[in-house]
Amino acid sequence: MPLVNMRDMLDHAYRNGYAVGGFDLVSLDFLEAIIGAAEKTRSPVILSLAESHFEYYDFELAMAAAEHAAKRAAVPVAIHLDHGASYESAVQAINTGCNGVMVDASQLAFPANVSATQKVVNMAHACGVPVEGELGYVAGVEGEDAEKHPGDVIYTSVEEARAYVERTKVDFLAVSIGTVHGRMRGRPKLDFDRLKRINEAVKIPLVIHGGTGLSDEQFHKLITNGVAKINYYTALADAAASAMRKNMANDTKGGYTHMIHGVRDAIRSEVERCMINWGSAGRAAEVLARCQSWQPVQHVIIYNVDNISNDHVETVMNRGQAVLSKIPGVRRVITGTAVQENSKYKFCWLIEFVYKTVIESYRDHIDHVTFANELFRPIASNRISIDFMQSTASPNTEHLQHDIRASA
Ligand code: 13P
Repeated sequence: MPLVNMRDMLDHAYRNGYAVGGFDLVSLDFLEAIIGAAEKTRSPVILSLAESHFEYYDFELAMAAAEHAAKRAAVPVAIHLDHGASYESAVQAINTGCNGVMVDASQLAFPANVSATQKVVNMAHACGVPVEGELGYVAGVEGEDAEKHPGDVIYTSVEEARAYVERTKVDFLAVSIGTVHGRMRGRPKLDFDRLKRINEAVKIPLVIHGGTGLSDEQFHKLITNGVAKINYYTALADAAASAMRKNMANDTKGGYTHMIHGVRDAIRSEVERCMINWGSAGRAAEVLARCQSWQPVQHVIIYNVDNISNDHVETVMNRGQAVLSKIPGVRRVITGTAVQENSKYKFCWLIEFVYKTVIESYRDHIDHVTFANELFRPIASNRISIDFMQSTASPNTEHLQHDIRASA
């Protein structure tokens, strides 16, 4: 159950002076290690899936696993699309279960970045999903030597940051103040003065990309100046690879399971170290108590038709499936026919929305309005509908209640 609203999660971190890790995962080993570390340290956590990594795994399969892991976790979790490359990727991520999305239009000029980001924000907010935008440019590539992809770091300008946040209404801002993605030689020099001024200008949770390679002291200074989310990947990939290299050296003929032995533990211990250092450890109970849970809504319609052939009803259902399932915030569209012949109602729609906000945005969406007015309502005057949320037993939070008492 502890999938929580990511805006609430990061607002809590921002107000209370700590940062939540956005850890990119590329396999089940990463997923289990990240959740394991969060549970061990009682930390809120963001499972992050970067679009640039989609060539290494199947996004839909990884999302199914991430969502299942989040729901059964004993700590609050959010699932985030990292470096979303387009409006379409953001819609796909939301409809597949992400409850936070990043739109990365940072390579564009300021006006184009603003308009690309605005478009995603309008869509995502209509689904209740918060958006991270990036201004300035953090060079490098995750998991590789930063020096191989030097690019030109473009520092975030304070004045542009103010205008960007005002115009786009992003919920979190990724800033460029000297970090780079990937492995670095030596310590980067960070522009803390710039960060402080950006924080004073925008007053929303700030995000740092390229967390690998920073010192504990640098992390503390980042957090003191408004950073509430830290993206982290390369150090986890390196910890995993070094465990694998050791296994290979011990037995050059070992198979796959031999090679990945200990990988999960290596990743987990690095994630734990971050959670303790960034101050998110021990915060799970407060976050769970103060954040709205992230729950889908089921939109159900049962109906009868008058003097219409079953074939015609089926055509309408198929059309509905095709059109409605593409509306932002719709996770799935199921249509069906009653099993019992004497059922009071014969046909049914079950449409799952990612969050309660979608009840309204779906109702008003042009594709829904057109379909409903032109195809569905004319044949189904006799219908009833309900939007409902699954009732849930209270999660097992005994251990977290203990943490709340301890922190009070
Ligand atoms: P590192 O790979 O440098 O930790 O950066 C990760 C990141 O910023 C993902 O968006």
